[in-house]
Amino acid sequence: MKFRPFDRTGFSASEIGLGCWQLGGNWGTVPERTAMEILETAFEHGVNFFDTADVYGGGRSESLIGKFLQQHRDDRDDLFIATKVGRDGSLYPYHYTKENVQKCLHGSLERLGVDVLDLVQLHCIPTEIMQDGEIFEWLRDFQKQGLLKHFGASVESMYEANLCMQQDDLTSLQIIFNIFRQKPIHTLFDTAQANQVALVVRLPLASGLLSGKFDRNTSFEEDDHRRFNRDGEMFNVGETFAGLPFEKGVELADELKELLPDNLPMAAWTMRWILDHDAVSVVIPGASKPDQARQNAAVSDVKPLSDELHQQLAQFYESKVKQHIRGPY
Ligand SMILES: NC(=O)c1ccc[n+]([C@@H]2O[C@H](COP(=O)([O-])OP(=O)(O)OC[C@H]3O[C@@H](n4cnc5c(N)ncnc54)[C@H](OP(=O)(O)O)[C@@H]3O)[C@@H](O)[C@H]2O)c1
Repeated sequence: MKFRPFDRTGFSASEIGLGCWQLGGNWGTVPERTAMEILETAFEHGVNFFDTADVYGGGRSESLIGKFLQQHRDDRDDLFIATKVGRDGSLYPYHYTKENVQKCLHGSLERLGVDVLDLVQLHCIPTEIMQDGEIFEWLRDFQKQGLLKHFGASVESMYEANLCMQQDDLTSLQIIFNIFRQKPIHTLFDTAQANQVALVVRLPLASGLLSGKFDRNTSFEEDDHRRFNRDGEMFNVGETFAGLPFEKGVELADELKELLPDNLPMAAWTMRWILDHDAVSVVIPGASKPDQARQNAAVSDVKPLSDELHQQLAQFYESKVKQHIRGPY
């Protein structure tokens, strides 16, 4: 596993982290034992950065990470837990008060079993609340009080990313970035690097599409967002299949497969493509099985793609993909 500086924090983050939404819910059921094995497998393969949120599984994801931290007390300083606040029913969409945010943070502290939160990311809060900016003042106060070490934001669009970056002391931005969503390269990367803002990449596999394992007939469980939010029925359409209609995404993934070398699984090449961008600090693939966590961690050892292939993939995105993306971008 290779490590990259998590910008101003001084922490060296494994370039492949673990997305822990799956450990909470909305991806079918991941039993507790499997969830703990996923965390252990990722850790054994060098992962030290874990992304979660207070609302994943109503707190289940954070509680399981808390249990994992208990079992790894001696490694605590080498692990970085990035959580989120802002989508709990007490806040979202328009009930943001300092008191309510503080209550949510105390919930995270309790579930994770820690004295201070490593990183709190605003969790896709409404653009107007970001524009208003008062919420960042609250986060600064909570930082002074010792509730959190760093704060950042998880955003839906490049407009929001650049808006949040106006906060001088923002540590990180979490964005959707993958071969199907290349816009951040031209609209964010240079500014983020110049401002020393760490970039956390979610949906590296476009909810699994970029592993090439789905076909048009693939079906998902009822409690899986790839069923109930397929067309953005419940939340931002971009969070499911990176905003592509499922059938179009399958068709594009099949075409993409033909462009990539076949000596490694497609998921390895599509994630390697992300790591080839220096502005990226950490990629956080989600895993519903321990073996996925192992395979994903191994991507750090894969050699970069050639410049020629990068050009081909830029062309593929420009000509075939971008016009099909739905939702804020
Ligand atoms: N608003 C936000 O801030 C926000 C929104 C979304 C996600 N996130 C964070 O970002 C993380 C990652 O995004 P994501 O989980 O939505 O999307 P993702 O990482 O693109 O997709 C994860 C899914 O891809 C499949 N997969 C993973 N590794 C694989 C492999 N090696 N081979 C084949 N298939 C593989 C699994 O699907 P199966 O389960 O079908 O096997 C897994 O559940 C989340 O866990 C969460 O922590 C944040």
